[in-house]
Amino acid sequence: MATKGRLLTGDRPTGPLHLGHFVGTLENRVRLQDEYECYFIIADLHVLTTAYEDPAAVEGNIRELVLDYLSVGIDPDKSTVYVQSLVPQVAEIALLFGMLVSVPRLQRIPTLKDVMRDLKLETASLGLLSYPVLQSADILMVRGEVVPVGKDQVSHVELTREIARRFNGLYGEVFPEAQALVGRVPTLPGTDGKRKMSKSLGNAIFLSDDEKTVERRVMSMFTDPTRLRATDPGHVRGNPVFAYHDAFNPDQTEVTSLKRRYRAGKVGDVEVKRKLAQALNTFLTPIREHRAEFAAQPDLVESIIRDGSSRARAEAEETLRSMKHAMKLDYFREGTASKAKPDSLPTFEELDGNRPTRKFRIRE
Ligand code: TRP
Repeated sequence: MATKGRLLTGDRPTGPLHLGHFVGTLENRVRLQDEYECYFIIADLHVLTTAYEDPAAVEGNIRELVLDYLSVGIDPDKSTVYVQSLVPQVAEIALLFGMLVSVPRLQRIPTLKDVMRDLKLETASLGLLSYPVLQSADILMVRGEVVPVGKDQVSHVELTREIARRFNGLYGEVFPEAQALVGRVPTLPGTDGKRKMSKSLGNAIFLSDDEKTVERRVMSMFTDPTRLRATDPGHVRGNPVFAYHDAFNPDQTEVTSLKRRYRAGKVGDVEVKRKLAQALNTFLTPIREHRAEFAAQPDLVESIIRDGSSRARAEAEETLRSMKHAMKLDYFREGTASKAKPDSLPTFEELDGNRPTRKFRIRE
């Protein structure tokens, strides 16, 4: 059997995932689980690039994120779910990559400007500036080829490719070139009609919202601002209520008819929204049920994280070893005398067997 390609993607544990995440990347992940060997990273170190003052919420958010993953159908028997900080090798990989990227290249990455504007930061910390370098290390750590992400992350995958090319050109072929895979709805608008659904903009419908909350959020949604009465002809384009109908209502005959009546001034906002709330709740019901099942088993969530992180560590160890071998940095390793340096890379078992058994003697 041909070995499967590798897929890596993930999220920062900053809060619950929403409908925008679903159509932007989650459904691609679930769909590709059989085709690729999948790694899903919970990027807790990336959280600290901005929220470094109070990391106390991170642990709870990690648990919630795992529940979000499981509830949409990410299957830990097929895929590896892991926590970034439990794979410290990624920091060393990122450090080595840092040598291959210039500061102005990082300053030009659009997400940096967005974050600085949103958080009103005057300067970026070194950690924030190098955010995409750490992300490149996440991806290349497992030699990831496919990276399902939202549209805003494409520039980070581009940088990942540049780093891989640079590394391969200087030291030898170690890394594949990663491809971003953007979902069927690249940018889902927020309930307020703003460009993008986002937790921090307060315009999101979460996968974990209950029925009443979904109804409430839908009924207070922004629609067509130029339409004052239900008998006025309305705009469907740029109207988030219809963007959600398109993305989540499987009854496209209903959607087509609602659009036609809306344009003709023959249906009110309230009816269009009621139908949307129903469609969303039908979509979310099985997700909520799965979530409740897994939420009742907190030990399961922990063991998924532990197992996944230990698998990811083994991958990272191997990548780091290949990198250092290619860079001729594999000197003075434990258990290898310099004269007897092997040409091929040692296996894990060999390395384990070579652990020193006696302490250094201190000369007096
Ligand atoms: N930066 C991503 C986001 O905010 C999260 C992330 C971290 C990620 N490491 C990654 C995504 C590696 C894809 C691949 O959504």
